[in-house]
This record gives sequence, structure tokens and C-alpha cells, in this order.
Amino acid sequence: MAEKNERQGYPLAPAAGHLRSDQESATLQSKEFRRKRRIRIAAYIVAFVVFQSIIIAIFAVTVMKYRTPKFRLGNITVETLISTPAPSPSFNTRFVAQVTVKNTNFGPYKFDNTTATFTYGGMKVGQVVIPKGKAGLRSTKKIDVTVDLNSDALASTSSLGSDISSGILKLSTQAKLSGKVELMFVMKKKKSAQMNCNLTFDLSAKALQGLQCN
Ligand SMILES: *[C@@H]1O[C@H](CO)[C@@H](O)[C@H](O)[C@H]1NC(C)=O
Ligand SMILES: *[C@@H]1O[C@H](CO)[C@@H](O)[C@H](O)[C@H]1NC(C)=O
Ligand SMILES: *[C@@H]1O[C@H](CO)[C@@H](O)[C@H](O)[C@H]1NC(C)=O
Repeated sequence: MAEKNERQGYPLAPAAGHLRSDQESATLQSKEFRRKRRIRIAAYIVAFVVFQSIIIAIFAVTVMKYRTPKFRLGNITVETLISTPAPSPSFNTRFVAQVTVKNTNFGPYKFDNTTATFTYGGMKVGQVVIPKGKAGLRSTKKIDVTVDLNSDALASTSSLGSDISSGILKLSTQAKLSGKVELMFVMKKKKSAQMNCNLTFDLSAKALQGLQCN
């Protein structure tokens, strides 16, 4: 019975006559050897697949990940800052603001032009157009814009008089940037970034005192 199975498994073995016992054990040994080799090859394949999967996973969470760019207001250089106290409080300012678009993607971020709106106490005091542009792979694009703001549109009921007499002017700015992140030259995804900043000006020093963005 055992002999029959052996012959079926190995058709090239001599068909006639008995296998001698040493031949039989040699066949068993080579069979065992082949079995171990198959297991070893299977183990190599599994290890390779696991290794490849780890590489692909690392790639997927680093290089192939779309990240939202950071849109901020950077340096501000005041050119003019004129304020008039009560009874008819007003202000008028011109400053150069550096807008930054920080792109942490492994590919460029192309963005459209947008408008940043400046407000005082929730009311619009001016705006500036930020031109369209491109932030390269893992880099920060810096754009200088000149901003002109004044209190002409503010209602006389606003707290401007007391703010000006305190020597501090608080403004806010908001803007939304729309654009596309490109990965591996072909894969594109829309990503928009929001800018939200509070600016505090020192009226007597005619300079920016504080800037907070989120
Ligand atoms: C702001 O400007 C100063 C001098 O012009 C420069 O040294 C500094 O790096 C700038 N900061 C940013 C955030 O660009
Ligand atoms: C972008 O520029 C175009 C043409 O110059 C203009 O029509 C559009 O209003 C601008 N968009 C924003 C958000 O400022
Ligand atoms: C700006 O100020 C307002 C009111 O004080 C506050 O609610 C908001 O969180 C501030 N924003 C930032 C970016 O600090």
C-alpha cells in the first residue's frame, strides 16, 4: 500500500521490482528536504509581502497623503497709521503684510486669487486681493501685499473713540484660499485653507503690537 502511494507520487521511479530500503530512505529524505525548502520559500514570500506592505503603508501615510496647506499672515510693516481721537474718531493706515502659504505636501499646491477682508468690531474696513500662485513641494510661498484701511465705513456708534483714546486698535482679517494639491504629477485634490487673524496696533508707536492667527 505504502509502496503504491510512493510510485504514484514519483512516476519516474522504477516501475518494476522492489525499492531497496536504502533507496526508500533516500527518497524519504529528499522528500523531507523538498518539503522544508517549500516552507522556507513560503516564509520568504510572506516576509517579502509583509515588508512590501509596510513600505506601501509608510508611503501612503507620508508621501501620498493630501495635507491642508497653512494660510497665515506673517510680517507686517506699517507705512502710515493716522488716528484722530473723539469727538470724531477715525483711523487711516497703510501697511505691507506678508502672506504665507505653507505647503507640507510632497507635491505643489496651486491656488487661486482670493480677497482678504479686514474688519473692526465685525465691520469691514478694507480688503486686499491676494494674487494666485503656487507653493512648491514642502515649501512656503511668501507674498507681500499692500493693505489700505480706514474707518470711513464705520458707524458712529462703534467703540472706536474709546479704543483710539486707549492707544490700541484691534482689527481682524479673514480669507479663504482655494486650490489644488498635486501628487506624483497626476493625482490632484482640491484643498482650501482658511486664514483667521487678530491684529493689534499700537497707535502711538505706529506699529504692530500683536498678531494671532489660527
Ligand atoms: C520678518 O522680517 C524680519 C526683517 O525683515 C525678518 O528677519 C524675519 O525673518 C521676518 N519674519 C517672517 C516670519 O518672515
Ligand atoms: C480673482 O480674479 C478674477 C479676475 O481678475 C476676479 O474676477 C475674481 O473676482 C477674483 N477672485 C477673488 C476671490 O478675488
Ligand atoms: C480673535 O479675537 C476674537 C475676539 O476677541 C476671538 O474670539 C478669536 O478667537 C481671536 N482669533 C484668533 C485667531 O486669535
